[in-house]
Amino acid sequence: MADHDGRPVALITGASGGIGEKLAYEAARSGYTVVLTARSEPELNRVAGVMTTKLAATTIPIAADLSDPASIDDLQSELKRRGLQVDVLVNNAGFGMNGAATDIDRRQQANMIDLNVRGLTDMTLRFLPYMQSRDAGGVINVASLAAFMPGPYMAVYYATKAYVLSFSRALASELEGSGVKVCVACPGVVDTRFQERAKMQGTMVTKTTPSMSAEEVAEAIWTGFQAKNQVIVPGISNWMLSKLVKFIPGGIMMKMIKRLHAPVDGE
Ligand SMILES: NC(=O)c1ccc[n+]([C@@H]2O[C@H](COP(=O)([O-])OP(=O)(O)OC[C@H]3O[C@@H](n4cnc5c(N)ncnc54)[C@H](OP(=O)(O)O)[C@@H]3O)[C@@H](O)[C@H]2O)c1
Repeated sequence: MADHDGRPVALITGASGGIGEKLAYEAARSGYTVVLTARSEPELNRVAGVMTTKLAATTIPIAADLSDPASIDDLQSELKRRGLQVDVLVNNAGFGMNGAATDIDRRQQANMIDLNVRGLTDMTLRFLPYMQSRDAGGVINVASLAAFMPGPYMAVYYATKAYVLSFSRALASELEGSGVKVCVACPGVVDTRFQERAKMQGTMVTKTTPSMSAEEVAEAIWTGFQAKNQVIVPGISNWMLSKLVKFIPGGIMMKMIKRLHAPVDGE
């Protein structure tokens, strides 16, 4: 057990809103002390306030930019300073960018890789050894339905999520038979600030694809994790698509995705 009161600790990244906030609620309902991290301190404090008032949860908000290795060092030092060990790590922080790869800012796309790929890997490798030493706990990595296919007009984002799926499935296999669970969550479209940050408003994907709520998705992820599912695809139609995708000819799939993500102001 990993906090001073003997309760297990869950560390949730991207907990200042969206899916991460709702995953933090799930962890609190399961009796975890919850470390909330993201860049926005005011938003983390808002989530912590809600969790204290409505769920009587113990929360520890710590602001960090997980695309920056030095900031991850600081986060780990702060946990150490407070005498906290992480039993469950939820790597949820991430963002996407919609548009032609050469039209979108190069540095921002590299930063997306820093967060979605490098940061997630660094966090996993830092916190797994403690779980292995106790033969308990686990990691939830949030990928996307995008992980199952290349994504024209969201090329870097889809590729980062393919990495998360591959990395997580391989780790889950390495840890199979141990007490440590590793799972990867692959949601379809979820109603959060993600689309706005990705500049997806007005694209076909936001107009035509049904979205799930962050609550529904978080509940499906948390339940799947407890049930030791390795790959969690919330929503039946998303789950079916994740299975069907390998039977759809690549050219047809590319045309479909390209249409869904085509920038509204022309290609
Ligand atoms: N919404 C969807 O349709 C959808 C679909 C599939 C997968 N996903 C995945 O689900 C995850 C959560 O996304 P969401 O939909 O909940 O979007 P969101 O509402 O935009 O939340 C993203 C979270 O990540 C945090 N974050 C962003 N950059 C960060 C950084 N550099 N360092 C630390 N934290 C950072 C944000 O907080 P700050 O801005 O305060 O840092 C926020 O808490 C992402 O990995 C996303 O790729 C989303």
